[in-house]
Amino acid sequence: MRATPMTPEFGVRIEGLDLSRPLGDADRDELKHHWMRHKVAVFPGQDLDDEALASFAEQLGPLFVHVQKQLLRKTGRKEIMELSNLPGAHAPVTSDLDWHTDQSYTPKPVFGTILHGQIVTADGGETCFADLAGAWESMPDDLRARVDGVTALYAAEGPRVRPRIVLTDQQRKEIPPVTHPLIRTHPYLDRKSLYLSPMHIRTIDGMSEEETAVLMADLLAHVTQPAHVYTHKWTVGDVVMWDNTSVMHRRLPFPKDQPRYHIRAGFHLPEDRAVPV
Ligand SMILES: [Fe+2]
Repeated sequence: MRATPMTPEFGVRIEGLDLSRPLGDADRDELKHHWMRHKVAVFPGQDLDDEALASFAEQLGPLFVHVQKQLLRKTGRKEIMELSNLPGAHAPVTSDLDWHTDQSYTPKPVFGTILHGQIVTADGGETCFADLAGAWESMPDDLRARVDGVTALYAAEGPRVRPRIVLTDQQRKEIPPVTHPLIRTHPYLDRKSLYLSPMHIRTIDGMSEEETAVLMADLLAHVTQPAHVYTHKWTVGDVVMWDNTSVMHRRLPFPKDQPRYHIRAGFHLPEDRAVPV
């Protein structure tokens, strides 16, 4: 396999592998090594159906199933989600999505998310990644002092002042908000990272939601500086895989009249390291 860094700070392009075939231990370990070191890996020119994507993900960790059951398809593998705006899409993707880390509002969030572009828009729809580990490393001392050692409350509905989704009472019972440290150590690498999910963090360690919003704005200004951001423009066949302990991501808007079809899978950490601290 050939691994080529995409920015000076993070992101790697990996070529020379056919992800539709079993990897073998040596390739799997090398792939994981590059991915964790660079936090986001892009595998161009892949052709995976639902089964093949699930098989690839399963070689990297226990398969993830989304807790928001309303987003799951009615048929097919429950581990594969469709991000589609094609006619008949179960939960159509219609617009942009703000910065977040996947399922940070659950006790055991997904570790790796894998997205495969099968139909991509000519315009817009880019996925942007922000390097939360790099941002922690470069963080000025005064900002660091405001977040070091604190925890945050992560909720599926996000800040009450601007909820992204509204859950039913039953869903609220099923997915109650959870607490995670705002700075965590990577489960395999000896480095820390912010665990930021602006779409989900409701409050930071005892602050009011208004005070949290002020701190969040200061954190975002630092984390989303160009040096910490990689923007992925999709090409058909791309597989993009990211480490939710080390980056956050968002989707840029795209024209409603352009078709888009991505499939997605995810995998957890092994049980003995399930929740980074
Ligand atoms: Fe996401």
